[in-house]
Amino acid sequence: MPETTSIMSIRDLTVYFESNGEKNYILNGLSLDVRRGQTLALVGESGSGKTLAALAILGLLPTAATLVAGSIAFNGENLLDLTEDRLQEIRGDRIGMIFQESGMSLNPLMPIGKQIGETLIIHRGLARKSTHEQVIALMEMVGIPDPRRRYNNYPHQLSGGARQRVVIAMALACRPDLLLADEPTTSLDSTVQAQILDLMSRLIQDLRMSVLLISHDIGVVASLADRVAVMHAGLVIEEGNVHDILKSPLHPYTRALLDARPSLRKAVLGDQLAAFTSSIPANPSAMMGCPLADVCKQAVDICRLEPPPMVFVDQDHSVRCLLFGRPHD
Ligand SMILES: Nc1ncnc2c1ncn2[C@@H]1O[C@H](COP(=O)(O)OP(=O)(O)OP(=O)(O)O)[C@@H](O)[C@H]1O
Ligand SMILES: [Mg+2]
Repeated sequence: MPETTSIMSIRDLTVYFESNGEKNYILNGLSLDVRRGQTLALVGESGSGKTLAALAILGLLPTAATLVAGSIAFNGENLLDLTEDRLQEIRGDRIGMIFQESGMSLNPLMPIGKQIGETLIIHRGLARKSTHEQVIALMEMVGIPDPRRRYNNYPHQLSGGARQRVVIAMALACRPDLLLADEPTTSLDSTVQAQILDLMSRLIQDLRMSVLLISHDIGVVASLADRVAVMHAGLVIEEGNVHDILKSPLHPYTRALLDARPSLRKAVLGDQLAAFTSSIPANPSAMMGCPLADVCKQAVDICRLEPPPMVFVDQDHSVRCLLFGRPHD
């Protein structure tokens, strides 16, 4: 994939947690590209390391995590080499964030208008007064009705949907180059989810945003993503445009994952998917063959002998499975 089209390129990201002397590899050489002006959905089961990947991008890995290797190229810098001061400049400014349940993380003691303005004060060095009109414009942009009156509302005076709109306004206040959206609609009820999805879809188009979207929900992925990267055992095992991945998935794991539609949450996993999940070893890269070889119904001898490389099935669709041929150079 040509690097020039990417706003962010993650290569070989490897992260483990250690418990009782055993290293538990969560990210095991994760590589992906977010193309400029496009939305890449990172999908995978609960616990597969999606949020951890987002935290690594932001330099916010938990202290218990060890980052062994990898690089994250963003705007010509490797985010993993930066000082904390530089990362703070980038977070919220060049990279906007919407986290799982971020509506709950708003400061309950600060009016929402002021909270949206904080981002502009921190990153743009603006005085509070001069943020006011920009904040009103941002509130309008995210569809908060009557923003001049709402400016002084506290989070508890807003509905869950309106709080999520505030979070989106904060994430976009500095017009970031990249938006990380981790389950942006998961905590909302379904009518509100649909409204927030509409809003995000419109903003992504209008602002031509580059987005890394993390979601369990195929409906969310289908309505927002241009491309999809499927994660298993800490690696991307299939990547392609959203149409190909959802309509013609190739990897046996992707197929099992999609069979568990509409939600990919553990409670509704199919049997095959459950087998794939329980087979993940603590250190997949130490294995000889494919981590799925013992449970995959299509496995052949060679699957147990060598780790599967990423294979391009066409220019735009790649899959980490020996059944689909040999890798391109
Ligand atoms: N502080 C920690 N200490 C030990 N293990 C952790 C810690 N934080 C996360 N993990 C482990 O890392 C794995 C990946 O977690 P992560 O939150 O990235 O999953 P996820 O793919 O975002 O899941 P979900 O879809 O449920 O949000 C989990 O299996 C979890 O057990
Ligand atoms: Mg998560």
